[in-house]
Amino acid sequence: MRILVIGASGQLGNELCRAFDDAELHTADLDGGNFPLDICNFGAVRLLISSELRPDVVINAAAACNVPRCETQQDVAFAVNASAAGNLARVCHDAGSRLVHISTDYVFGHGATEPLTESCETGPLSVYGASKLAGEHLIKAYCSDFIIARTAAIYGAAPCRAKDGQNFVEMMLHLAATRPEVRVVTDEITTPTYTRPLAQQLRLLTEKGRSGVYHLTCEGACSWYEFATAIFNATGTEVRLIESTVAEFDSEVQRPAYSVLENRFAKTQGLDIMPHWQEALVAYLEETGRLSPEYLSANRT
Ligand SMILES: NC(=O)c1ccc[n+]([C@@H]2O[C@H](COP(=O)([O-])OP(=O)(O)OC[C@H]3O[C@@H](n4cnc5c(N)ncnc54)[C@H](OP(=O)(O)O)[C@@H]3O)[C@@H](O)[C@H]2O)c1
Repeated sequence: MRILVIGASGQLGNELCRAFDDAELHTADLDGGNFPLDICNFGAVRLLISSELRPDVVINAAAACNVPRCETQQDVAFAVNASAAGNLARVCHDAGSRLVHISTDYVFGHGATEPLTESCETGPLSVYGASKLAGEHLIKAYCSDFIIARTAAIYGAAPCRAKDGQNFVEMMLHLAATRPEVRVVTDEITTPTYTRPLAQQLRLLTEKGRSGVYHLTCEGACSWYEFATAIFNATGTEVRLIESTVAEFDSEVQRPAYSVLENRFAKTQGLDIMPHWQEALVAYLEETGRLSPEYLSANRT
């Protein structure tokens, strides 16, 4: 299988390359990979996919995903997350390549109280969410063989390039090391999702999944406060953790208060392999060497 991963040096792109390391793997990115590529450049995308490579699968992990920045750079957000996704879909359709595209829980708005399935009504609250939803629509319009994978709150060993290298786990550990107390919101509920199992799940669906929109997150749900608590417990970090609210942070960006996704489409095909978020967090901390010995001995038989 010949694969092209776009956005290969990003947080998720890195893990995708690892998940496909036994395939014929090609990588593209704005400033690196085998092929330097700006996905907004339609001619360059067409040349690479239709003429040079003709891959069986194109995985698009490239995005403008700094949520506050998208509010002030709407043209960039829609160019990268929407128009470029649409152009990729047209090129993939013409070249006979399957398109695997990463989307987000932020296509949803307020009001949900139970896990959202792929058929639930969307209603983005931010420019980022709206641009990603527009990208989904364009892919569905132009391409017949696609996987649109909506995920949420991802973290992994590779830095998130759009967020200055930070992910929530690293940010919490950094704050705990540099401040006497850490405030975290209790009124935003999501499912933290580790990129390693996510990339393995994406590989399985790339090879065996039917065309369509998928929700792909770890299992379970928690507030950011509960996630921070789990991080500090598992790493043995001593810090004063204080409950806070979204209103106290006075953010200019609106995010859904509850955006828990149910991986229904993958489950109906018997293809859901995502672990619980707590199990995934422990795996991440163990792999990055931060799991405390006390936690290990108390939780392993
Ligand atoms: N981070 C999250 O919590 C989260 C949650 C839900 C969904 N997602 C989705 O997951 C996917 C991966 O996100 P991530 O966290 O891995 O982001 P990331 O670390 O910022 O990686 C994105 C990659 O895309 C590249 N890129 C940006 N614009 C490009 C362009 N015009 N042409 C080619 N490459 C371009 C970036 O290159 P440069 O760094 O050089 O700009 C970077 O390598 C995205 O679709 C995102 O919307 C993320």
